[in-house]
Amino acid sequence: MQLRFLATDQVDQLNLNQVNRLIYQLAGFEVNHTKKSFKKFLSQENLYQVGAFVDNKLVGLASLFVIGKIEYTTGLIEGVVVDKNHRRQGIGRAMMQTLIEKAKGLNLVFVDLTSNPTRVTANKFYQKLGFKKRDTNVYRLKL
Ligand SMILES: CC(C)(COP(=O)(O)OP(=O)(O)OC[C@H]1O[C@@H](n2cnc3c(N)ncnc32)[C@H](O)[C@@H]1OP(=O)(O)O)[C@@H](O)C(=O)NCCC(=O)NCCS
Repeated sequence: MQLRFLATDQVDQLNLNQVNRLIYQLAGFEVNHTKKSFKKFLSQENLYQVGAFVDNKLVGLASLFVIGKIEYTTGLIEGVVVDKNHRRQGIGRAMMQTLIEKAKGLNLVFVDLTSNPTRVTANKFYQKLGFKKRDTNVYRLKL
């Protein structure tokens, strides 16, 4: 297994069907990224996007967004998914460790994430990696 930070100039070598398959496994709905839209996603300045590859096939994705808040800078981990045929092999853990090392290197104060309680596996996974549940309310305004 190989981990790489994905950059816009690597998108032409990526199988976008595999990107979209992973997003479907994460979100449960179709997101049909094209090379153009995925390049636009990757071009965000505050994004570190890791990809996991087995035999050159993309089998995992995880994003770290750097959030410059008024009081300090933190990280937000999003979009963590491992292809269902490759789970329980340490790939998720390896992607998370890579992003956490990146966050430490950037001197971020915290790394935050959210995970719906119905995602039982993911909640076990994050707790196993040392993430502690925070007592806060999560709000969203639908636009
Ligand atoms: C959550 C997810 C990313 C984990 O990826 P993974 O590569 O299978 O995880 P790892 O093999 O690195 O597991 C690391 C540890 O997490 C825990 N864990 C992972 N899967 C688990 C499961 N099914 N049941 C219990 N614990 C589990 C274990 O402690 C495991 O360590 P161990 O194998 O030494 O016991 C993967 O299950 C996934 O893609 N789920 C669907 C998408 C999703 O829900 N993403 C999170 C959105 S918030």
